[in-house]
Amino acid sequence: MIKKKLFLGTNTKMYKTISETLEYLSDLITLTSDIDWDDVELFVIPSFTSLESAGKLLRERGSRISLGAQNMCWEESGQFTGEISPIMLKEVGTGIIEIGHSERRHIFGETDQQENLKVKCALKHNFKALLCIGETLEQKNYDISDEVLSMQLKIGLHGISARQAGNLWIAYEPVWAIGVNGIPATKEYAAMKHKTIRGVLCRLFGETTGNSIPILYGGSVNNQNAADLISMPDIDGLFIGRSAWNAENFNKIIRTVYPLWKASRAELK
Ligand code: PGA
Repeated sequence: MIKKKLFLGTNTKMYKTISETLEYLSDLITLTSDIDWDDVELFVIPSFTSLESAGKLLRERGSRISLGAQNMCWEESGQFTGEISPIMLKEVGTGIIEIGHSERRHIFGETDQQENLKVKCALKHNFKALLCIGETLEQKNYDISDEVLSMQLKIGLHGISARQAGNLWIAYEPVWAIGVNGIPATKEYAAMKHKTIRGVLCRLFGETTGNSIPILYGGSVNNQNAADLISMPDIDGLFIGRSAWNAENFNKIIRTVYPLWKASRAELK
């Protein structure tokens, strides 16, 4: 497969106020201004409250960093106290909807069926839908990781056509690898799971579309392991938490992985 683009992004979770997000983004815009945007898809997913001013800043500075939301309701409006609708997110210039992050599933009890409603809604509203999947440590120990990933994909993407899947991104984030207590997956393990995911996507959408859907790895990505991970087949990008919340550090990771990605793409041609 020819790797069309390198995907690098961060979700800032429930960190960074509006002013902190703006300071962070402003630094990141400056540091990344010379990037080859035909090659790199760089995105930031800040808090809901920061989205509007973040969008404004990106437009004012003419930056091509994309903006995403951490969650979204599957309805356009209605009696859904505390939820945010696709129309509201469009209004503030959001392009990506993150769906089913491990913390949404495991702390807030979201189900695969709910993620499916969100994916369908996001695609219907022409967002990029970033579906996050991953097995827990218990599931890994039972040796059912592939079954879990397959189930999360089959339910989460149920009813999506191959045409719609062109706006789909997948993040593989093993639950045991995420956060301060997480242990990053080895590059070999991550590559194996990406291969499993690629296989399911090809079965669901056909080879051409299945091969074109970007699969990002997430879970304790840092300056030490980013290079190894990005050099593996089927790892099309990195979805980074803590290590990307400082603009300079994020930029260092970008500068480390981009040349490697470019070299591996050249080999594939
Ligand atoms: P982490 O977060 O890089 O801090 O482990 C990853 C994520 O939750 O997406």
